Amino acid sequence: MKPVIALTKGRLEKQFLDYFASIGYEIRPLMEKGRKLRVETEQFEFIFAKGVDVTTYVQHGIADLGVVGGDILAEYQPDVYDLFPLPFGQCRMAVAKEEDKDWPDRKKTIASKYTDITKAFFKAKGESVDIIKLEGSVELAPILGLADGIVDIVETGTTLKENGLVVDEEYLSFSARLIANRSALKIKREQLKPFIDSLKQGEELK
Ligand code: PRP
Repeated sequence: MKPVIALTKGRLEKQFLDYFASIGYEIRPLMEKGRKLRVETEQFEFIFAKGVDVTTYVQHGIADLGVVGGDILAEYQPDVYDLFPLPFGQCRMAVAKEEDKDWPDRKKTIASKYTDITKAFFKAKGESVDIIKLEGSVELAPILGLADGIVDIVETGTTLKENGLVVDEEYLSFSARLIANRSALKIKREQLKPFIDSLKQGEELK
């Protein structure tokens, strides 16, 4: 059976395809997949899923390896082997608010996809906040009056800027990471090693 590799759809997708190409892999079948979520190449079977689901497929051994943002690992802490950082997908976790508004004097309300990270961050500061969980486009929350601010990842800063928000505090940095199912790493070691090594080598070359 071919090794199964789970890839994160969306933000990271183009970046890892460019990276695979840069270290010599044929990416045409992945580029031409259309809406297909499973793509077989000569060497591998790739599956495409949302970041948190990539960790679920890897944790349960459906996928041997996965490419996922470090932000997802920090938030969900899945039981997978976190192998090493990949040289793309760099982003920061930040608290942001509307540019022209001060924080209110009362308890703050913070909207985020990353509720555990948000809780831990404000707890460490000794501040109690109300947290509202959103699944995406969290920049809308302060603009529409749902929250005073947000905790979210910032990559280029364009989304904040185009929505009139500014970073108030940055506190964690992440990149994409290669993760592995714990038993696949032992049982299929010989089969997975060349792929793992090629990604690591690419990382060292950068
Ligand atoms: C992420 C994040 C920000 C944006 C930051 O969203 O939640 O909205 O990217 O990137 P930037 O600093 O380069 O503008 P994503 O595209 O993953 O979609 P989502 O809002 O649906 O989560």
